[in-house]
Amino acid sequence: MTGPRLGGVDAEHEAQLLSRVIDTISAGLDLGPILQGVAKLVTETTGTDVCFVHLLDERGRTLRLHGATPPFDDLVGKIELGLGEGVSGWVASHGEPAVIVDDKTADPRYRYIPALRGEEYTSMVSVPIVTPLGHLVGVLNVHTRLRREFTAADVELLRSVAGLVAGAIENARLHRRLAEREEALERFAERTVEWQEHERRRLAGEIHDGISQRIVSLFFHLSAAADAIPGSPGVAAEQVARAQELATAALDETRSAIAGLRPPVLDDLGLAASLESLGHSFPQLHVQVEAARTRMAEHVETAIYRTAQEALQNVAKHAQARNVRIRLYLQRDKMVLEVADDGTGFDPAAPDDSGTSTGFGLAGMRERAELLSGKLELSSAPHRGTTVRLMLPFTSPAQLPGR
Ligand SMILES: Nc1ncnc2c1ncn2[C@@H]1O[C@H](COP(=O)(O)OP(=O)(O)OP(=O)(O)O)[C@@H](O)[C@H]1O
Ligand SMILES: [Mg+2]
Repeated sequence: MTGPRLGGVDAEHEAQLLSRVIDTISAGLDLGPILQGVAKLVTETTGTDVCFVHLLDERGRTLRLHGATPPFDDLVGKIELGLGEGVSGWVASHGEPAVIVDDKTADPRYRYIPALRGEEYTSMVSVPIVTPLGHLVGVLNVHTRLRREFTAADVELLRSVAGLVAGAIENARLHRRLAEREEALERFAERTVEWQEHERRRLAGEIHDGISQRIVSLFFHLSAAADAIPGSPGVAAEQVARAQELATAALDETRSAIAGLRPPVLDDLGLAASLESLGHSFPQLHVQVEAARTRMAEHVETAIYRTAQEALQNVAKHAQARNVRIRLYLQRDKMVLEVADDGTGFDPAAPDDSGTSTGFGLAGMRERAELLSGKLELSSAPHRGTTVRLMLPFTSPAQLPGR
C-alpha cells in the first residue's frame, strides 16, 4: 500500500489494525461478534466515529446491517437496503468505493435513513467487501463527525480490512453449511438405523409367517409323496403337485419381501417407467405422469423413486384426492420431482395430532434430500391440495466411479 497519507493512519497503525482484524476474525466462527469487533477496531484505528458493516443476503438482493459501533449497535439486523439503494447500495451494485467529504445530501447516491442519523456526520467512505474470488458479500462504511479528506491510502486500508472480513464471512458461511449437512447426516443415520430395524422386523415377519410356513408344508407334502410312491403313485403325484404349488407361492412371497427392500423396477424399466408403474399401483387415484427419460446415478434414482412412493402413499392415506400429477424434469443443473394432488391439503406448520403418524414420511424425504445436497419443498394449505417438490443436483450415471 503506497500513496500519500493525509488521513492520519500511518504505516505502523495500519499494520496493527490489520493484524488486530486478523486476531478478531480468527477468534471464532460466529459472524455477529466478529463484525462487531471489526467495526470497533476500524473506528479506533482509523480515527473515525462510526463504522457499519452491511452484508448482502445469500440471494444477493438486500444489504442488511450486521455490525455497527455504538450508539448504532442496537440497529444490527434492523436496517435493510436494496441493491442500488443509498450510498452502500450504490457501492454494492458498482463494486467500487465511494468517498463523500461533505454535503452528502447533494450526492444523488445518498439516501437519508433517520435511524442512522446522517445529519450528525459529515464525511464518509464506503468500500465493497469482496472475497478473493471476487464475490461481493457486503459493504463496510466509516463516518466522521468532522469534515475529513479521506485519502486514497485510507480507502486502500479499508479495502484491505474489507478483504479480511470477506474471508471470515465466507468461512463462517461455509462452516454453517457444513454444520447443517453434518446434522442432516446424523439425523439420516439415526433414521436409517430405525428403518433398518423396522425392515428387519418386517422381513422377519414375512419369512416367519409366510415363507417358512410354506416350506414346512412343502416338506410334509414331499414326505407324503415319498411314502406313497411305492404303493399309491396316484397319491404321490397329487402330493407332488401340491408341493409344486407351495413352492411357487413361497417363491412369490420371497419376491415380494425382497421388492419391499429395493425397487427392482428401477433396474428393469428405468425411473420414468417406474414412476408410471408406481402410479398404477394406486388404483383409487388418477395419476398422471410426465417424466423425462434421463438416466441418473442409481442412488439419485432410488431417492426420487422413494420420494414419489412416499408422497403417493401420503396422498392415498391423507389427502382424499382424485388426481395426482407427477412431473420429473431437469431444470438447469437440478433434477426436479413434483407430486401434486388436488386433495384436502394440510397446514405443514401445525403438528399432526392424529396419533397415527410415525413421522417417517416427510421427515425422511427431507433428510434424504438434504443428504444428497438437495432440498424438499412442501406447499400445502387446507382445501388447496398439496405439492411436494424434491430438487436434487443432477448426477449422471457416468459421473460415478465404478459404473
Ligand atoms: N398429500 C397430503 N395431503 C394431506 N395431508 C398430508 C399429505 N401429506 C402429508 N400430510 C399430512 O402430514 C402428516 C405427516 O406426513 P408423514 O408422511 O410425515 O407421516 P404419516 O404419513 O402420517 O406417517 P408415515 O409416513 O410415517 O407412515 C400426515 O399425517 C398428514 O396429516
Ligand atoms: Mg407418510
